[in-house]
This record gives sequence, structure tokens and C-alpha cells, in this order.
Amino acid sequence: MPISWSPPSSSWILATGFTNLRMNFLLETLQLIVLSIYYNVEAIIKCIIPTKKKDVTGEIVLITGAGSGIGRLMALEFARLDVALVLWDISQEGMKETARLTKEKGASRVHYYLCDCSDKSEVYRVAKQVKREVGDVRILINNAGIVTGKKFMDAPDSLIEKTLEVNTMSHFWTYKAFLPAMVDNNHGHLVCISSSAGLIGVNGLADYCASKFAAIGFAESVALELLATGKDGVKTTIVCPYFINTGMFDGCSTKWPTLLPILDPVYVAKNVVNAILTEQSYLLLPRSMNLLMALKSFLPSKQSVILGKYLGAFNFMDTFQGHQKKRN
Ligand SMILES: NC(=O)c1ccc[n+]([C@@H]2O[C@H](COP(=O)([O-])OP(=O)(O)OC[C@H]3O[C@@H](n4cnc5c(N)ncnc54)[C@H](O)[C@@H]3O)[C@@H](O)[C@H]2O)c1
Repeated sequence: MPISWSPPSSSWILATGFTNLRMNFLLETLQLIVLSIYYNVEAIIKCIIPTKKKDVTGEIVLITGAGSGIGRLMALEFARLDVALVLWDISQEGMKETARLTKEKGASRVHYYLCDCSDKSEVYRVAKQVKREVGDVRILINNAGIVTGKKFMDAPDSLIEKTLEVNTMSHFWTYKAFLPAMVDNNHGHLVCISSSAGLIGVNGLADYCASKFAAIGFAESVALELLATGKDGVKTTIVCPYFINTGMFDGCSTKWPTLLPILDPVYVAKNVVNAILTEQSYLLLPRSMNLLMALKSFLPSKQSVILGKYLGAFNFMDTFQGHQKKRN
């Protein structure tokens, strides 16, 4: 008996398409729910049981702004881990001192280079020199930073531009210089030292906040680009600390030190290095910043404003002196 075949009707195609779409929706939603439960349980377990730290022996670690503050202190933390340290700063004296201190702590390979990270061509030139003289950087810590400390309308254009060039644009240039080798080997770690001022706007810090928000947006997007291309061996960490007692924000005060303490630089450096070794994607310090961020996302805006006032965010910068205090 001859078999007859007729093409499916358009209503059948539509109905099948709709059923497939519904199936896909159900399957993907189920997958989302199961994985969400899994990752939440994993996060809770990680809070209770300390995560295993990765071995960085022999890795090349580059820290920008390593001539003082937490840049120097992170270098000192890495000095114990048998890595090759590459220090960048605009202060030759500062780097010399960091190099001396890291050697005292046991670092055997320390290299330092004068490099203004805000200058794209200088970053590319010095990056080539590092590759030639030391090798491929595996852990890149974008830490160099500056603050104007002036109200937006009082800040000279040149300082606003410089703030964005140092705190944000330099991250673009260092990534361009060092990321390709990490991607080729599917191995590396990108660290963005931002700030709590990159999560919440602050009265008197418009240019600084803009530069730190932008640094987070950039780092987060590159992290997703890496995941989307399957380069999951290149890890990323974004760090957002509140005020640290390094001199950068000298004169600023915190209203409720128990809730939001001015952070000890050694504590911050230790926590950043720990976050890198345990491959944490985000580090907010103090931990109470996590609660503030959660509140910011759902509180009515007027309530956020009174909460900001209560926490002193309107007056943090009133007594700002910054590094000037030391220079005078
Ligand atoms: N101190 C704080 O309260 C605080 C809070 C949150 C985030 N941060 C961030 O932490 C990072 C480190 O700050 P810190 O407190 O150690 O300050 P710091 O002033 O002690 O250190 C900054 C270092 O960056 C260097 N630097 C400045 N411009 C540079 C450039 N163009 N190229 C290369 N190096 C340059 C400086 O010479 C200095 O050694 C900064 O990105 C800062 O924004 C600081």
C-alpha cells in the first residue's frame, strides 16, 4: 500500500513550537532552581568550613601602587608565599622601601618599575619590559588610586580627569597588557581594588565614586566575558573596602565606629590576599557593608537617604585632609 506524506500544517508547527518553548522554559527554570539551591548550600558550607587556599608558588604577582598603603602590605603578604613580585608605582622611593621590606620577609624575586598607570603608552611599554625581564604576570592587582577630596563643583577638571585615569582607565590598559597571556593559558587572576564608594555614592566624593563604580562595572563585565568564552581558569576578585587608615583619607571620621570602623591596613591586606587565594569573587569590608548593600537594593529611596544621614555619609568628607596632612 503506498505511503502518502503531506507536510505538517502550520497550526501543527505552531503547536509543536509552543510545546518545545514551554518544555525549554520548564527545564531551564528547574535547572535554575536546582543550581541555585546547590550554590546557596555551597556558600553556607564555605562560611563554616574554611576554603582550601590555592597554591601560588612561583607565580608572578604584579601590584600597582605598591609604593605605600595596602599595595605595600599586600606585597608583604605575598612575600611569604614564594612568588615573584613585580611592583609598580610613581614613587621610586616608596617601591624601594617595599622591595626592601618584602626581601626582609623572605621574598627572593622582587622587581620594581616606575610606571604611571594612568599613561596608556607607559603601561604598554613597561608591561613589555616585565614580560621580557620577569615573565608572564599571573596575578594582576590593580590597586593604584588617588582621591581629589573636593566637592564636585570645586574640583578642577584636571584632577577629575586624573582620578578617572588612575582609578579606572589604568585597569583597561593593564588588562589589555596582561590578560592575553592569562587567556592563552586559561590561568590567572585579575584583582580590582575598588571601594565601598564604588557601591554607594558619597557626598563630596563624586569623581572618586564615579571612578570606583566604573572600575567595578569594568571588572564585572570582563569577568562575565571570560566565563562566556569558557576561560574559567582566569579568576576575578573585586574588593570594596570602607575607609582604611593609610593616610589617603586622613582627617575623615566615621560616625559609628562599631558599625562602620575605619579599617586597619594590615587587616585589609590580609583579607584581600586571602580572598585571592580562596578565589572569592567579591570582598566587602567590613562585612556589614554586605547588609548595607542589600538594604540599598530594596529600601525606598527616602529611607536610604535618612539611613545614609544616620551613618554619617553626608559628612564623611567635611574634615578630609588626605595625604596633605603628612606633607605639611
Ligand atoms: N584608604 C582608604 O580609605 C581606601 C578605601 C577604599 C579603597 N581604597 C583604595 O585602595 C587603593 C590603595 O589605597 P591606599 O589607601 O593604600 O592609598 P595610598 O595613597 O597609600 O597608596 C596608593 C599608591 O598608588 C600610587 N599611585 C598613585 N597614582 C599612581 C599612578 N598614576 N601610577 C602608579 N601608582 C600610582 C601612589 O604613589 C601610592 O603608592 C586605592 O585604589 C584606593 O582608592 C582606599
